[in-house]
Amino acid sequence: MSPRESAVEGEGRNVKHHRYEVERKAELGKTSPLWAGPGQGLVLAGYRRDHEKVDPPYDFPAYRGTILRHPKRPLAPIPDALGEVTGPLLGEDRVGEADFDLTVGLGGEPQGQKMVLHGRVTDGDGRPIRGTLVEIWQANAAGRYWHAWDNHPAPLDPHFEGVGRCLTDDEGRYRFITIKPGSYPWGNHYNAWRPAHIHLSLFGRAFAQRLVTQMYFPGDPMFDHDPIFNSVREPEDRARLISTFDWEATTPEWALGYRFDVVLRGREATPFEEVKS
Ligand SMILES: [Fe+2]
Repeated sequence: MSPRESAVEGEGRNVKHHRYEVERKAELGKTSPLWAGPGQGLVLAGYRRDHEKVDPPYDFPAYRGTILRHPKRPLAPIPDALGEVTGPLLGEDRVGEADFDLTVGLGGEPQGQKMVLHGRVTDGDGRPIRGTLVEIWQANAAGRYWHAWDNHPAPLDPHFEGVGRCLTDDEGRYRFITIKPGSYPWGNHYNAWRPAHIHLSLFGRAFAQRLVTQMYFPGDPMFDHDPIFNSVREPEDRARLISTFDWEATTPEWALGYRFDVVLRGREATPFEEVKS
């Protein structure tokens, strides 16, 4: 195509776009919030984009595991196919009524500080994300995972497996009853200890829509020494990974309350462990 032909085609697009705007305004009418008055064009709803560095990078050398496992070549986009939408699907009936309570089901009370973890899952405009699967996994009060690979010399608790799940309600709320996890050593560098944390996974409508993050506890002395926490590069983003102590959710003679809200995107987005697309 010659430059002239290209320019003509460009003009054609402008004319077409202008006609579309005129038709759209007529369709919307003056009572629409998108109607800005004659000659003002369309006013689009605000879109509060995540800033580029909200999620941690795949390669963060201070977190040694990322040196070998980060992609060495540019990522290749894989277009969604029908299979990503049709299965496998969760099905609400697979979430048991007691799955939100990590302190029951194993024949006795687990050791440690009982706590309620709750919060809301919202989009960037504060709208609730309903019916999304929230899963958590964590170490026990002594800092030991119920996992074959965890050989940290701390006791396992026969009454605490450390996994739970629930669905958000119509307001996007979730709630777990659990035990406050302990710090654990992880061998990344000399005297490396993780701040106490709980892992969270959120599923969207399909298996390929999964976001994973970690929540921390206020005032943890390990924050400055932990490469995983600090792989989220901006202080204000790291702050959104720290739960707040919640007096209202604290129950007399029973459990402390912590709140952790999850925002999927926008300027207040929660940092997730994989870059959002
Ligand atoms: Fe962990």
